[in-house]
Amino acid sequence: MRLHIADHPLISHKLTVLRDRTTDSPTFRRLADELVTLLAYEATREVHVEPREITTPVTEMTGVRIADPRPLVVPILRAGLGMLEGMTRLVPTAEVGFLGMVRDEETLTATTYAERLPDDLSGRQIFVLDPMLATGGTLAAAIRFLLDRGARDVVAICLLTAPEGVRLIETTFGQSANVTIVTAALDERLNEKGYIVPGLGDAGDRLYG
Ligand code: PRP
Repeated sequence: MRLHIADHPLISHKLTVLRDRTTDSPTFRRLADELVTLLAYEATREVHVEPREITTPVTEMTGVRIADPRPLVVPILRAGLGMLEGMTRLVPTAEVGFLGMVRDEETLTATTYAERLPDDLSGRQIFVLDPMLATGGTLAAAIRFLLDRGARDVVAICLLTAPEGVRLIETTFGQSANVTIVTAALDERLNEKGYIVPGLGDAGDRLYG
């Protein structure tokens, strides 16, 4: 597992406004969208490309295009949906699949309640969108599901992460280079309710509540 914490003043600025409890839902949605686009730029650094011959107004040359099979973007419902547009703006040719997962607020265990993905994910490069990595239970289950179906590599884009969640992904997927987390920040810890501290509250509620 690789962890990439995007270190950029624009990202820190937007994340600070996102964390602020006085930020209203419309502003929260817009900022989450902008942050995802910035994180997506980092997350797609190793997107697979293939050569493409073109002719410029001056000469012929070999450029690149995003390779087949196209990347698959998987927002984890519900909160991940708030990140979809920011991602597809940057990679408009990506295919989109959905995973609906919810965390029991008492036991903190994640269950899958919806799934709409291609049956065969062999060789696919997958970008999972979920704003919060807290205990890591949700993301670990999602990544396991995708790798079991043949995904070649999985990059999770999370606005915020907690050390507990990062550790779980690390122990579950070990040193394998085919799992990457790209995030705007690694926060301090989880509180007794499983919320990230300092965090930003419940991302689903702040986006859609
Ligand atoms: C939140 C969040 C993640 C998950 C993180 O979703 O969006 O999916 O919890 O927690 P974990 O790392 O401890 O598993 P939630 O279950 O609240 O559902 P929602 O997106 O529908 O609000």
